[in-house]
Amino acid sequence: MHDIISMRDFDKATLLEFLGLAENAEKEIRENKIKDAEEKAVDKTLALLFFEPSTRTRLSFEKSAKLLGCKTIGFASEKEASLAKGESLIDTIKTVENYADAIVIRHSKEGAARLASEITEKPIINAGDGANQHPTQAMIDLYTIRKELGKIENISILLIGDLKYSRTIHSLVYALALFKARISLFSPRGLELQEDIMEEAEKMGAEIRIKDKLDLSEEDAVYVTRIQKERFPDISEYEKVKGSYRITLEHLKNAKKELIILHPLPRVDEIDYRVDFTKHAKYFEQVKNGIFVRVAILKKLLSI
Ligand code: NCD
Repeated sequence: MHDIISMRDFDKATLLEFLGLAENAEKEIRENKIKDAEEKAVDKTLALLFFEPSTRTRLSFEKSAKLLGCKTIGFASEKEASLAKGESLIDTIKTVENYADAIVIRHSKEGAARLASEITEKPIINAGDGANQHPTQAMIDLYTIRKELGKIENISILLIGDLKYSRTIHSLVYALALFKARISLFSPRGLELQEDIMEEAEKMGAEIRIKDKLDLSEEDAVYVTRIQKERFPDISEYEKVKGSYRITLEHLKNAKKELIILHPLPRVDEIDYRVDFTKHAKYFEQVKNGIFVRVAILKKLLSI
């Protein structure tokens, strides 16, 4: 695979290959075989073009690059780039390809990463394009599921929150469908998962059910998302759904012992902080796993 643009480009074998590479990376990092190594610099440069805010994705790509001895260049907001002067994305990519061996891009427009991949021969990694896709996050989610539950195949998972605008959800649904997951959906009214994504996932072998109650009792995993306020065309629509769901200790009373709770973060108010202290909470494990997965991705795409 040359670029990572959408989870829809993956088949099961390729996804499993990446999860295996991430497992190797985890082992090597834990055994100190991969460590911040400026002295063994590999003469590769990774560009991080973040036109939209990010904490984990940007920092973990940066950290992963450093672990491998790669240099990083880039910017963390649109204001820092010439885009603020009116430069097009195409010209930005044509410029950056001269400085970097691979480009990680996050942009508010759907299709921005795909467009970038059509302009340059350099590998493009989509770190989120509008409400569309965030494939590397889905790889982290699957890695965490497999590590915590011991399997991905046929799991029962409940997706909660803004299923319409969450790009992490859109990527995750395709990834889960490759493993024939039983997917339940719970969202505020107006933020349902798009019909076409549902139909495609069902065709791929997922079983999809829509729930109208937050009942976690049958689930192996629960994936919570925040409402994507910044994507609402009309902010008064956001006000109507704001704060309309929240996972509390009460919801965990009849949960399976092994239930895992995932969240791509950032969290606003969807999960009560007291849930963090239960053994179900795995969202900070996802953060840790982000390094292993992204080290694996960079090693593969940059041939390190
Ligand atoms: C997500 C994103 O940017 O889509 N964050 C992430 O990368 N983990 C989720 C979000 O912003 O809600």
